[in-house]
Amino acid sequence: MVTPQPPAAESERSGAYFYTRKPEPPTRPQTDRTEGNGAAPAESSLGPTGRPLREVPDPTPVTTHGPAQIIAMCNQKGGVGKTTSTINLGAALAEYGRRVLLVDLDPQGALSAGLGVAHHDLELTVHNLLVEPRVSIDEVLMRTRVENLDLLPSNIDLSAAEIQLVTEVGREQTLGRVLYPVLDRYDYILIDCQPSLGLLTVNALACAEGVIIPMECEYFSLRGLALLNDTVEKVHERLNPKLSLSGIVVTMFDARTLHSREVMARLVEVFGDLVYDTVVNRTVRFPETSVAGEPITTWAPKSGGAEAYRALAREVIHRSGR
Ligand SMILES: Nc1ncnc2c1ncn2[C@@H]1O[C@H](COP(=O)(O)OP(=O)(O)O)[C@@H](O)[C@H]1O
Ligand SMILES: [Mg+2]
Repeated sequence: MVTPQPPAAESERSGAYFYTRKPEPPTRPQTDRTEGNGAAPAESSLGPTGRPLREVPDPTPVTTHGPAQIIAMCNQKGGVGKTTSTINLGAALAEYGRRVLLVDLDPQGALSAGLGVAHHDLELTVHNLLVEPRVSIDEVLMRTRVENLDLLPSNIDLSAAEIQLVTEVGREQTLGRVLYPVLDRYDYILIDCQPSLGLLTVNALACAEGVIIPMECEYFSLRGLALLNDTVEKVHERLNPKLSLSGIVVTMFDARTLHSREVMARLVEVFGDLVYDTVVNRTVRFPETSVAGEPITTWAPKSGGAEAYRALAREVIHRSGR
């Protein structure tokens, strides 16, 4: 079966969104080999990114924990898989014996809801930690049903924090101060950011060592990456010299469409090895897990989605060396 070529208008559009470069015909060999059903070519070890798959060893068990590496899960675009990736990467890291804290830094509270927490009824949330110095982090910390996976929940109260923090001295470092007392307890702290580059997200970037960008494989997303990259660089220069981009994970991927494959090819061209080999395919199992209130690794442990986030966890552990 041959995948139809996009109309001319589609090809022209593609150039405009890639940093105003001229459109180029896709040259990746993968484009030809995966025509049709999108299955990985049997005769080759090329992964969905169009590159040869790299060997990632199985993580070695850990006996001691901390200090935590803080990773901000960030993209100013909504609906790209930030929350899904935070929950499931966190759960997969926890399966590998790492102690993980998930921080809900989005007033929508989707991370908390996705872990089955009735967040609307909570008396103490991340909001209290940010604006009331007397509240201790242990009063807000919650265990999840997944071993080794804890949560700092949020709800709509957090939407007031941006305004409340504006007049604070050192307002960008507030979250860092909040998390400091528990760094030794965890191996990873993953922060689920809201879809904006406002003060809450800057707080996440100001205390993080790494940024993981979940992104949907479409042209508009690529344009947004440049802006996000600028913000990461500014925070690196002005607030947090430890900060760097850890990687970009493509979510909701559909290898059957030429569009997805073209965007993937350009993403790899621009960001190279920063693009994780692991790609999360689009599957209805993820919306199901939001309803179930648990990670896919426990809801559907043998599913492709669960395996994808385990593979991502292996890459994250391998790259961070812990
Ligand atoms: N790989 C995937 N395949 C299908 N649906 C997905 C996938 N990842 C996430 N989703 C769904 O897409 C929606 C947005 O994802 P979410 O993680 O909430 O994005 P964000 O936090 O960036 O707004 C949710 O309904 C989620 O269940
Ligand atoms: Mg979200």
